[in-house]
Amino acid sequence: MVGVFESLHLYHRIDQMGLRGIEIMLKKKKIGVIGMGNMGEALVSGLVHSRSAIPENIICSDIRKDKLKSIKEVYGVVTANNNLDVVKASEIVIYSIKPQIMASILKETAACLDMSKVIISIAAGVPLAAIESCLNKDLRVIRVMPNIAASVKEGAAAIAAGKYVLKDDLKIAKAIFDSVGKSVIIEEELMDTITGLSGSGPAYIFLIVDALADAGVKMGLSREDALFLSSQTVLGAAKLLMETKEHPGKLKDRVTSPGGTAIAALHTLEQGGLRTTLINAVEVATKRSKELGEMMMKNFSEG
Ligand SMILES: NC(=O)c1ccc[n+]([C@@H]2O[C@H](COP(=O)([O-])OP(=O)(O)OC[C@H]3O[C@@H](n4cnc5c(N)ncnc54)[C@H](OP(=O)(O)O)[C@@H]3O)[C@@H](O)[C@H]2O)c1
Repeated sequence: MVGVFESLHLYHRIDQMGLRGIEIMLKKKKIGVIGMGNMGEALVSGLVHSRSAIPENIICSDIRKDKLKSIKEVYGVVTANNNLDVVKASEIVIYSIKPQIMASILKETAACLDMSKVIISIAAGVPLAAIESCLNKDLRVIRVMPNIAASVKEGAAAIAAGKYVLKDDLKIAKAIFDSVGKSVIIEEELMDTITGLSGSGPAYIFLIVDALADAGVKMGLSREDALFLSSQTVLGAAKLLMETKEHPGKLKDRVTSPGGTAIAALHTLEQGGLRTTLINAVEVATKRSKELGEMMMKNFSEG
């Protein structure tokens, strides 16, 4: 069990040191990653390429030994023969496996889990309470909802703290997810909404880009040009929003000239109910996330 005094002391020190201090701390941490799929590899790649962590301090495992071998070759990280060895060697352990096997992997690694480690779960729909109560011992657990854009270091992640987490744990978790994009710290009760918005969001944008490309093809463009132009348009619009920090409505007003093409198209989009459809989509995805979370909680308590 980590001494509270020691942790508070550490936290004050981190605050004084600020961001640079967190970066230095993260570099010294032993970080375990269980599961080298889409997300696990994205995180390893982000941590290594941003130099947020030292490859020798990253310990990985996966059921697929061929995958593990290639991860070691590409990123120079350490690999372990099993998940328990990852936890044993790490101060922070990222569980990057499917939600359905989260309970069994927690149990498999339980012998080495205690309050000296920080557990980061990115398993969609698995509530903090399920993890905290699974092993009948107090654990420092952080839940994160990242998205697939982490694999190109433009992810959007939301981070929520479990009840035993220290403030410095959250800052370190934020630094980890900032290495693959950008992140915000939220209350867990908003996690289903985050899942409906940014977790599932890339799928909505892929559909929009595909539809715009179809439109371009219909109007005579090659598929290749249409797809490139629609993707680049989404990228550019997002960059403009992020860099200028202008309200999207204001930017929209700037590109709609009186009697012009954009306002004619916007009229059609509103008639088609695009805005309402997107709101409904996020609402339904949020509800579905809640349902899946309840099922997951049941699985955890039964298993
Ligand atoms: N991908 C996303 O966009 C996204 C977004 C938000 C949250 N998440 C969450 O992130 C987590 C990981 O997602 P992902 O897309 O990276 O999944 P994934 O690609 O399936 O990665 C999971 C990896 O863990 C391996 N694995 C399976 N059983 C294992 C075991 N017993 N021990 C160690 N490794 C094992 C899998 O191998 P096999 O392939 O052989 O099973 C796979 O390589 C999930 O909980 C998901 O809910 C994902």
